[in-house]
Amino acid sequence: MQRPTANIEWKDGIPYHKDFDDIYFNANDGLAETEYVFIEANRLKERLRNATNDQDTLRVCETGFGSGLNFIACYALWRSLPEPKKRLEFSSIEGFPLSISDLKLASKIWPELGFEYKELLNQYPSPITGFHYLEFESGRVSLKLFFEELNNALDKYQFFSDVWFLDGFAPSKNEEMWNSKLFDHMALYSNHQTTVSTFTAAGFVRRNLIDAGFIVSKISGFKQKREMITASRHLESTTKTQALPDQAWHISENSSPNIKHGHVLVIGAGIAGLTTAITLARKGFKATIIEKQEGPLQGASGQKQLIMYGKFPQQYTPEARLLIQAQLYAQTFFSREQLSSGNRFWHTCGVVHLAWNEKERAKQQNVVDRFELPETFMYQADANKLKGLSGLDIQDSGLVFPQAGWLDTEAFSKHVLEHDNIELINKREYTHQDWESDALLNSMNADATIICNAVSYQDLDINYPLPIKPLRGQTTQLSSKSFATPKTVLCGEGYLCPTLHGELHIGASYDLNNSEPFESREDDHANIEKLVTWLKGWSDQATLNEQVSGRHAGIRTTSNDYTPIVGKLPRTSAMNKQYSFLTKNAKQETIQGRYYDHTYLNLAYGSKGLTYSPLSARLLVDTISSSSIGLPHEQAKQLSPARFLIKSLKKGHFYSTN
Ligand SMILES: Cc1cc2nc3c(=O)[nH]c(=O)nc-3n(C[C@H](O)[C@H](O)[C@H](O)COP(=O)(O)OP(=O)(O)OC[C@H]3O[C@@H](n4cnc5c(N)ncnc54)[C@H](O)[C@@H]3O)c2cc1C
Ligand SMILES: C[S@@+](CC[C@H](N)C(=O)[O-])C[C@H]1O[C@@H](n2cnc3c(N)ncnc32)[C@H](O)[C@@H]1O
Repeated sequence: MQRPTANIEWKDGIPYHKDFDDIYFNANDGLAETEYVFIEANRLKERLRNATNDQDTLRVCETGFGSGLNFIACYALWRSLPEPKKRLEFSSIEGFPLSISDLKLASKIWPELGFEYKELLNQYPSPITGFHYLEFESGRVSLKLFFEELNNALDKYQFFSDVWFLDGFAPSKNEEMWNSKLFDHMALYSNHQTTVSTFTAAGFVRRNLIDAGFIVSKISGFKQKREMITASRHLESTTKTQALPDQAWHISENSSPNIKHGHVLVIGAGIAGLTTAITLARKGFKATIIEKQEGPLQGASGQKQLIMYGKFPQQYTPEARLLIQAQLYAQTFFSREQLSSGNRFWHTCGVVHLAWNEKERAKQQNVVDRFELPETFMYQADANKLKGLSGLDIQDSGLVFPQAGWLDTEAFSKHVLEHDNIELINKREYTHQDWESDALLNSMNADATIICNAVSYQDLDINYPLPIKPLRGQTTQLSSKSFATPKTVLCGEGYLCPTLHGELHIGASYDLNNSEPFESREDDHANIEKLVTWLKGWSDQATLNEQVSGRHAGIRTTSNDYTPIVGKLPRTSAMNKQYSFLTKNAKQETIQGRYYDHTYLNLAYGSKGLTYSPLSARLLVDTISSSSIGLPHEQAKQLSPARFLIKSLKKGHFYSTN
C-alpha cells in the first residue's frame, strides 16, 4: 500500500505542511535548532565516542522523519568524529513521507550537508507502507525508516532506543504524535541510559515522561523559544508491559543474549547462511560459517541463477504483506551489496510475470487493484511494452517488477566470503552434540548459533520438531546460440532467465516424491513442455530439446504452511507448560515465550530463498543485537518457529517432541 506523501507548500524557502498548518523546522536556522534541541541536549557527540567494540551502537529513535534533517545532522556529526566511535542506528517513524522532489529541495538548504543528503537521496525509498532499511558507511551508520502512522507503528513494531527525538508538529496541531501510547512504548523499550529531548515544553509531555519512568528537566528553548524538555531514564524505574502486543508468544522473555564475543556461528553455506553472515558482518559481528560439504552452495542454493520471484495472493493478506516486505528488502539488500563489490552478482534487469492465460490475467488485475503499489515496485504492461523490455516477441500482457532481477549465486558467495569478518569452515558437520549445552558455541567463543541447514535440520535431532519436507526440483540449461535471449527474467508456469556465461536456464520442476537431487532428462522435457505453453512463440519443443546443454537438480525445503521458519528456537516442554491454557481457550492472552537464548533457526525457504532470506537475516541480526525490529509482530509471528507449537495447543494438543 502506498503512503500519502506530505502535502507541502514551500514558504520563504522552508517546507510548510498544509494539513497540519505547521513548518518542519525553524525558519531562521533549522540546522542550529536541530543541533541544540536534539544533538546537544542528548550529548550525542560524547555518547558516540569511545566505542568499546565493533558492535557498540548508539540507537536513536525519532518520531517524524520529515526532511530528514535530524538524521542528516547526526550522520554528519558521526562522520566528523575520530575513531574509535560507535555505530549509529537511527530509526524514524514517518506517516506522510516527503516526496523525493521535496526532499531534494530541502537538501539544497544546507550545502554543508551535501554529502550526507546525497547519500540519503540515493537510497530514499518509494512511499510504500512498512519498513525500509538504508545503510551508509558499510553498515556503520544505518537508517530504519518506518513509513507508518505513528500509533500503528507503535502497535506493530518494537523500537529499542538509547535516545528519543520527539519531533512531531506542535502538540496543539498534531495530537496523534503525542499520545500516551508513545510514552508507554518508550517506558518498555528504553534502558537505564536512555535520554529524550523535544522542542516542546508542554505540561502533558512532561507528565507522561515522568509516568514512563524518566527524570524530566526544562531547559531554555532554541533562540526565541522559552523552554524545551529533556529527560533521562530514572535508575529505579521498572518497565511497564502495556506496550506489548496482544499475543506476545513470539517474543522471548529474555530479550537477547548478552553479547560478549561479537561472534556468531552460522550453520550451512547456502543462500540463507550467506545472507545471514554478511548481515552479521555489516553489523560488526564476526561470523563463522560451518558447512558440512567441501564448499558453499552445495545444497538447493547450488542453482547457478536464482530469480527473485514470489506468487502474490490475490487478496492483500498477511502473506501478501510479508512477501511485499521481503521483496522490497531483498531488492535493496542485493543492490546495496552490489554497489560495495567489484564482482557482478546482482542483475536488476526486472522480472516480468506474464499474464499467459485468462486465469493469470484476472489474478494480476486483482493484485493491481487491491495492492495499490507504486510503479517503482510493480506495474502492468501490455505485450508491446514487454517486447521492448525483454527484447523478445512477447504476445501477452504482464506485471513488471522493475527493481527485481536474478542472482549469480557463485559470484555472490565469493563476495560474501571476501568480507574480513566472515570465515567459512568446510567439511565440518554440525551435530546434536554440538548443539546440546551450546557445546560448539562455548568452545568457539561465540554468542549465538543460527541454524541455516535447510531440511537437514531434521537430522540434528533437536527436541523441537518441525513440519518440513524435501521437495526435489531441477532447472534445465540451454545453449543460448539458437535463441533470441531475454533482457529481463520472464515468469509464467516456470521461468526463463537472461544468459549467464552463454547459457540460458529455465526452471523449474517440482517432484514431491523424491528427496534425492538426481538429475533427469524427464525433468528437462517437463520444463520445456511447460515453457512453450506460457512463453508463446519464442521457440518450439523440438528445438528446445535439441539445445539442452545441462541441468541442475536440488532439494528445496518446504514447511507445511509454505512460509520460512525464522526466529529463536522454542523450548518445547517449557512452552507447552507455559501456554497449556490455550488447549482450553485458544483466545486467551499470551505473554512472552520461553526460548533457547542462543539458538536461532533460519530455514524452509521453498522456492523463494532469494526473496525471503535477506529480510530474515535482518530480523535475526536485529534480535541478537537488540536493535529496533523492522518486522511487524504479525510478520514475525508468521515466520516464528513457535507458530507450530501455538497452533497445536490451540487445537487442543500439546506439541510433540517425537
Ligand atoms: C531447481 C530449483 C530451482 C530454484 N529456483 C529458485 C529461484 O529461481 N529463486 C529462488 O528464490 N529460489 C529458487 N529455488 C529455491 C532455493 O534454491 C532455496 O530456497 C534456497 O536455495 C534455500 O537456501 P538454504 O540456504 O536455506 O538451503 P541450502 O542451499 O540447501 O543450504 C543448506 C546448507 O546447509 C548445509 N548443511 C546441512 N546440514 C549441515 C550440518 N549439519 N552442518 C553443516 N552444514 C550443514 C548443506 O550442506 C547446505 O550447504 C530453487 C530450488 C530448486 C531446487
Ligand atoms: C516537525 S516535522 C519533523 C521534522 C523532521 N524531524 C525533520 O528533521 O525535518 C513532523 C513530522 O511528523 C510527521 N507526522 C505528523 N503526524 C504523524 C503521524 N500521526 N504519524 C506519523 N508521522 C506523523 C509529519 O509528516 C512530519 O514529517
